[in-house]
Amino acid sequence: MKKMLMPSMMCVDIMRLCEHLDLFEKIGVDALHIDVMDGHFVPNMQLGVDYCRYLARATDLPLDYHFMVEEPEKIIPWFPIRPGDLVSLHVEGTSHVCRALDAVAKTGAVPMIALNPGTPLTALDEVLDMIGGVLLMTVNPGYAGQDVIESTIDKIARLHTMLEQKGRTDIGIEVDGQVGKNFARMLAAGADLFVLGSSRYLDTDDLDLLAARTAEYRRLLTAEA
Ligand code: DX5
Ligand code: ZN
Repeated sequence: MKKMLMPSMMCVDIMRLCEHLDLFEKIGVDALHIDVMDGHFVPNMQLGVDYCRYLARATDLPLDYHFMVEEPEKIIPWFPIRPGDLVSLHVEGTSHVCRALDAVAKTGAVPMIALNPGTPLTALDEVLDMIGGVLLMTVNPGYAGQDVIESTIDKIARLHTMLEQKGRTDIGIEVDGQVGKNFARMLAAGADLFVLGSSRYLDTDDLDLLAARTAEYRRLLTAEA
């Protein structure tokens, strides 16, 4: 999967959403990361169905949905998921992960599995042929602004090696959680898709600085390719 930069929309000041959207389109970010939280799977509630409807209407940028919810298969049909979007659901959130991945595949979006920091990579074994990507949480899911969990850096490298060994380098590795401050080493470990939240990215609402930071991350991606 091509390398992608994806601003985390829960970290964008809702009162300045349109300005940010215009900037993201102008500077060519690759997708917008949407955190959906239900107050059960994680102790927080975020971005709902109407917000996503407005966003999908307002931009052609792909949406990168991250469902941090229990039983995602029940609510996925509520969202305006389009072909070309990416959809991650947590393997820890459902007893019916294959059914949930099927629900995503029917929308034409890329089905992906998300793993909490403490969930081993073996959780992927039975679903590798159903997915186009893996989202590795590098902090505990639920909140922006947390410190990276160190063991997850090696986990990126181990997943990269595992996918190479299985001949599945088409599967993208997404990282989510304090990515900005750890960008270079996550890239070196083998990450492809980068969620840019409050860590050295959306901790500012200075749009010129945001554009400069995006260009800097893009340069690192290009240098690695
Ligand atoms: C955390 C969310 C992230 C969040 C990351 O549960 O999934 O998308 O925006 O933000 P930072 O960069 O602050 O870790
Ligand atoms: Zn996320």
